[in-house]
Order: sequence, then C-alpha cells, then structure tokens
Amino acid sequence: MAYTAKDYSKLLGMKGFSEALLKNHFTLYQGYVTNTNKVIDAIEKLAKEKQYTIPEFAELKRRLGWEFNGMRLHEFYFENLGGDGVLRPDSKLYKKIAEDFGSYENWVSEFKATGAMRGIGWVALYQDIVNGKLINFWINEHDVSHPAGANLILIMDVFEHAFMLDYGLKRADYIEAFFSNINWAEAEKRLK
Ligand SMILES: [Fe+2]
Repeated sequence: MAYTAKDYSKLLGMKGFSEALLKNHFTLYQGYVTNTNKVIDAIEKLAKEKQYTIPEFAELKRRLGWEFNGMRLHEFYFENLGGDGVLRPDSKLYKKIAEDFGSYENWVSEFKATGAMRGIGWVALYQDIVNGKLINFWINEHDVSHPAGANLILIMDVFEHAFMLDYGLKRADYIEAFFSNINWAEAEKRLK
C-alpha cells in the first residue's frame, strides 16, 4: 500500500511565507512520501527472501523511521497552518494549555524558546494520553525523541528549509510568522 502526497497548495499566499519557500517545502515533502514508499518496497523485497540478517535490512529499518516521520510530520505541519493564528480563550484547547502550563502565555514562550534552540528538527506540542497532560517536545531531525504513544497537537518545522529562503538566520521572525498562521481549529481537533 503506497503512500500518496497530499496537496497543500491552498497554503500558497499565506502571509509571511513566500510562494517559492512553500513550493520548495511541498517538493521536499513529496520526496519524503516517495522515499517512504521506496524504503517500504525494499524492506518487503528482503522480507520475502527472508534476508533478515544482512546489514541492508537493518539499515532500511532504521531509515524507515526517518523517511516516514519526515512525511507524516510535514502533513501535520501543513495541516496545522493556514489559519488566523487566534486561539480563542473560551476554546477547549486554550483552557487545556492554560491548565497544563499555568497560562497560555507560559506555553507560548516555552514553545517559541524550544523553536529557537540550535539544531534542526521540530517543536511539537504533544498530549501524553496516559496522564492527559500537554507537553512540549524537541524532535531531533524527524525521528528522535517522540514521546511514546502520545498524541500530536501542534507541530512547527524548524529545519532551515522551513524559513531560510524568507528569513535568513532570523528564525525568531519565522516563528512569529508561523504563530500568526496557526490553524487552531485543526490543532484542537487532535486533542483527546
Ligand atoms: Fe520541512
């Protein structure tokens, strides 16, 4: 069962994101979809031949987490964009954030500070479904440090390709642009 790249062209024209940057980002995302399919195909071929002990099998298995998450995280990212960036104080998610972080503002500053960290990766607001609490995570690259079994609420790409074309090294300005385009309705739908 092959994965198909989704169309996010409705995001074109979003304030603070140039068309060139978004188009490059869509192409990059499509690459993850293509490569996820390629890696799965290659694993299936080896599995059919019961070639489980060769290094190629192990390397493909390792690679899958990176390509698959590269695909899926971009989908969550594009889907939590395209909104007006306003989380209404009477919404379920706003109240939940305020409850778990002390205030909405506390959460914003922690999430932004995590995004300003050196390195490439993602900032993710996750809900631990064991205790129900929200928690911000730094995801290294695509695959390192996701909380097991947790539920993704909001994700921000902080790989350089997500902002450099428009903002150069001014990552903070990109983070502001990201915040003014959050689709909070989509993020709230993910809350359990
Ligand atoms: Fe990206």
